[in-house]
Amino acid sequence: MIIGVPKEIKNNENRVALTPAGAKELVKRGHTVYVQHTAGEGSGFPDEEYENAGAKILQTIEATYEIAEMIMKVKEPIESEYKLIRENQLLFTYFHFASYEPLTKAMVENKSVCLAYETVEKADRSLPLLIPMSEVAGRMAVQKGANYLEKPLKGRGILLGGVPGVLPAKVLILGGGIVGTQAAWMAAGLGADVTIMDVSLPRMRYLDDVMPANVNTMMSNEYNIREMIKSADLIVGAVLIPGAKAPHLITRDMLKDMKPGTVLVDVAVDQGGCIETCKPTTHENPTFIIDDVVHYCVANMPGAVPYTSTLALTNATLPYAIQLAEKGWKQACNDNAELKLGLNVIQGEIVYKAVADAFDMPYAMVEKYLAD
Ligand SMILES: NC(=O)c1ccc[n+]([C@@H]2O[C@H](COP(=O)([O-])OP(=O)(O)OC[C@H]3O[C@@H](n4cnc5c(N)ncnc54)[C@H](O)[C@@H]3O)[C@@H](O)[C@H]2O)c1
Repeated sequence: MIIGVPKEIKNNENRVALTPAGAKELVKRGHTVYVQHTAGEGSGFPDEEYENAGAKILQTIEATYEIAEMIMKVKEPIESEYKLIRENQLLFTYFHFASYEPLTKAMVENKSVCLAYETVEKADRSLPLLIPMSEVAGRMAVQKGANYLEKPLKGRGILLGGVPGVLPAKVLILGGGIVGTQAAWMAAGLGADVTIMDVSLPRMRYLDDVMPANVNTMMSNEYNIREMIKSADLIVGAVLIPGAKAPHLITRDMLKDMKPGTVLVDVAVDQGGCIETCKPTTHENPTFIIDDVVHYCVANMPGAVPYTSTLALTNATLPYAIQLAEKGWKQACNDNAELKLGLNVIQGEIVYKAVADAFDMPYAMVEKYLAD
């Protein structure tokens, strides 16, 4: 198969969909990989590394779209890319269709085949191509929180781990899923006094088993949250209710009960946030202050660490990309139920129900396309 890797052109996106190591794996199997000039630069991979891995460099985005049977990307195509996409061309990337109608309509109109990272799903309902970014964001949440707790950045001026004779900081994590667990590991490793709140007892039993002694679990409810925020120094929002907006577990009126200089990192901001006063911010301007409480609410945290994020993402996507390249999308999706769930739009029809429902558009069963 001919695979094309364009350079990401969305504002501040430095990740790339394929590493030189990934290109080598595909080339080794007899596929041809074209990478747009400087596509890997933002993640620290120069053109020469791709060439050494057997890929070919193309100078323009137009040439990359023109030649490829499968386009591998990170972010959804933006408007200037819509016209470059051809009928029947396979696009393997994040789309998040349900949040943007013009993108959905454009992909229906150009009759491409859209396989979305975010809806590839395992039998246990986990989302293998979203997990790596949650892992990055969870670990980063504590790194950022520790930083903003410093006095010059308007925090309480407390060191997460304390020092001998001085108590460590208290870290409260709302939601003990992927983000919350990774945040807890980082905070615990730095010596903080960590509490994870969740509503799932099985999840808390698991966390209680695997976490070190400076991590405790507690049932998430309004009473407990109101109590815990009084003494917390850093609060990480990491709640997810699949398919729904995050619940506001911390409401505006609760800020007055927090210590001045408390830092809130709401990782769930991309789903509306679990802290009422959070609104999305950017890496250029990541924080704002309300009632002496520092709010960090960057919606694309992994974007700040493109090297780690690119490697984490491509570790997860490459096995699927290999299947698509070896078998073509129809056979690969027939053989692999996880990949099949990634199909969102096929040759002018929406085949993922939630996307069709989001915009009241027609929906076709995916089997219609996989049967032959
Ligand atoms: N800002 C970013 O850059 C970024 C990056 C990656 C992920 N995210 C977001 O982070 C959030 C968490 O993602 P995840 O992968 O950890 O999800 P996850 O499904 O693994 O974990 C969510 C957890 O929240 C728990 N939960 C649900 N309701 C709760 C409540 N009322 N109180 C406490 N816990 C509750 C669930 O039981 C679950 O354990 C999502 O909104 C995701 O989109 C943001």
